Amino acid sequence: MNSSNVTVIGLQWGDEGKGKIVDALAGVSKYVVRFCGGANAGHTVEVGDQKYALHLIPCGVLTEGVTNVVGNGVAFDPAVACEEIAGLEARGIMLGPDNMIVSANAHMVMPWHKTEDILSEKALADGKKIGTTARGIGPCYADKARRSTAIRTGELLDTEKLSARIREIAAIKNKYFQALYDQAPLDADGIIADYIEYARSLGPLIANTGAILRQAITDGEAILFEGGQGSMLDIDHGTYPFVTSSPVTACGVPTGAGIAPSAIGIVVGLIKAYTTRVGAGPFPSEQDNQTGEYLREKGHEYGTTTGRPRRCGWFDATAVRYAADISGVDELALSLLDVLSGLDELKICTGYIVDGEKMTQFDPAVMDRAECVYETLPGWSQDITACKTYDELPEAARNYVDTVERIVGRTIGFISVGPERTQTIFHNTKVKGLK
Ligand code: IMP
Repeated sequence: MNSSNVTVIGLQWGDEGKGKIVDALAGVSKYVVRFCGGANAGHTVEVGDQKYALHLIPCGVLTEGVTNVVGNGVAFDPAVACEEIAGLEARGIMLGPDNMIVSANAHMVMPWHKTEDILSEKALADGKKIGTTARGIGPCYADKARRSTAIRTGELLDTEKLSARIREIAAIKNKYFQALYDQAPLDADGIIADYIEYARSLGPLIANTGAILRQAITDGEAILFEGGQGSMLDIDHGTYPFVTSSPVTACGVPTGAGIAPSAIGIVVGLIKAYTTRVGAGPFPSEQDNQTGEYLREKGHEYGTTTGRPRRCGWFDATAVRYAADISGVDELALSLLDVLSGLDELKICTGYIVDGEKMTQFDPAVMDRAECVYETLPGWSQDITACKTYDELPEAARNYVDTVERIVGRTIGFISVGPERTQTIFHNTKVKGLK
């Protein structure tokens, strides 16, 4: 294992608080790399009184000396990238080729992908809708697999050829949109003008990021791989078809960044102290009741990307163990423990009843009819947001942490007790150099 590298991935349905932990780990990394998803992600980082919501740009931009990399596995939306870069620059965070590079092989999100995302969702019957973020992610990856109608970021470097490709693909998309959705034709000239503008801004950032990262590995530089979404939304291992369209577990890192599997380093699996999900699909421990409402309000559980209220429920240790096994998780990072303060009792899902049979393993295929079996634990009433060590936590909170460790079968390296950079307890982590 390459011990100076770290991979951070979500083990639930996304929104596990990756932004904060990635920001903390960026301080000991030379590179921060996105390898999956795109602007469907929403990572919030709070530094002092400043709050940053990032979607596409890696969270390492908030740390000086870090090179931020958008890997080849990302669905890269140049419109969002330009907007985020402008927003960061307005706040004094400057981005250029010395601190941000984008893979020439990352597939570009085009305006027709966003149109298709919205139209295809609308056309689905109730119960079949996925509840996507409407960022064009699924259609972009579909074109990646289709190849003939895909455009990669490197194509921004030759605007003449790019213009011809946009015109050619727009004509195909027009036929498709007209036939399926009776949609007015795309404005190819307008799209070409916009993408020429993006090429001007982003051209200098486009690079062979895989080669750069492989060299960095040879040179022993520390790399942090920043996951997006959560393992239960993984295209292969999640609750299909209610998933996103890229491989978001640690198994997606080598492919999405262009590095060897042996270089992913320590795998940190991020978990929330409870569970949330946005969009449709099975969620066995969901609490569509007062408890869910309590968690939503106290945890500000509204989507960073879409503003949608998140569905909330108890911590599902069985689902997390499944996700941790797929990614070979070395340690866990537990976030939002402070949100549980004030609940009389807490429940952790330790298995399921499916068709009258007891199950101790998570199986995405049957989760739509699974009922949870719970272990009940005492809650705590104290405010824990100022706790700096595990020992300062109330006994019931320590008991909760220990129970999660025991049932998931992994140690917890980090405990987050508030949104601020400083509200992190470094517990049993194997990551080196952290203060
Ligand atoms: P898509 O990725 O926009 O296609 O959405 C597919 C599913 O993944 C929907 O249920 C989304 O709500 C969910 N999803 C995508 N990205 C995120 C994320 O970053 N956090 C939480 N859910 C997400």
